Amino acid sequence: MKKIVIAIDGHSSTGKSTVAKRLAEYLQFVYIDSGAMYRAVTFFAIQSHCFKNDKLNNTALLEKLHDIDIDFQFNNKTQKSRILLNGKNVEDNIRGMSVSERVSQIATIPEVRKKLVTLQRDMAHKHNIVMDGRDIGSVVFPEADIKFFMTASAEGRAKRRFEELQQKGETTSFNEVFENIQNRDQIDTTRKHSPLIKAENAIVIDNTNLSEDEQFKIMLKTVSDYL
Ligand code: C5P
Repeated sequence: MKKIVIAIDGHSSTGKSTVAKRLAEYLQFVYIDSGAMYRAVTFFAIQSHCFKNDKLNNTALLEKLHDIDIDFQFNNKTQKSRILLNGKNVEDNIRGMSVSERVSQIATIPEVRKKLVTLQRDMAHKHNIVMDGRDIGSVVFPEADIKFFMTASAEGRAKRRFEELQQKGETTSFNEVFENIQNRDQIDTTRKHSPLIKAENAIVIDNTNLSEDEQFKIMLKTVSDYL
């Protein structure tokens, strides 16, 4: 039977993953965080010394690309997933600023995108999915059943992300987070391959003034009408 795909794209730190997880849990679908896959490749690049003084050595990374194995471990009971890099859970290694500052650069590399898009499509053969990212409705699954495009003011997003990082005990400043978000928006929307764009038939959710519950209800109504 054909599996259902719900694509959620949008700018950085719009709360895509929070609502995507909640929808997946409610619908008993599998949630896939495609951003985590780009983050895991970035973590790998840092660990394997592909950055020298903050400058990426593309050739070094491309030579090692076939050594990177990315998978998700799904817990059917809790519906939660963890990202595995070469068999190791790296969930706690990929969310900090050192990865956030480098990930958008890694995500411009066509060979990296090709590898991850193949994995993302494979996952949709096996499960009904909710996947969030930047190019899910436009490139990975142009035929997705439902597409959402999430946005919010850059200040609002930075505030939310800053609070999240503080709660995790990461030492950073609001300005650093704000600049990182603006920088990632800039790279993500202007890159040559698979830039962040709203797919033509995506439903736009601007959550600047919406609570998590409000946006969840709006999105669930759209999904329930479709199913
Ligand atoms: O979703 P998250 O903010 O964790 O994604 C981190 C980065 O990975 C994004 O800023 C973007 O550069 C890249 N990304 C991408 N395509 C996706 C998901 C993420 O280019 N589908």
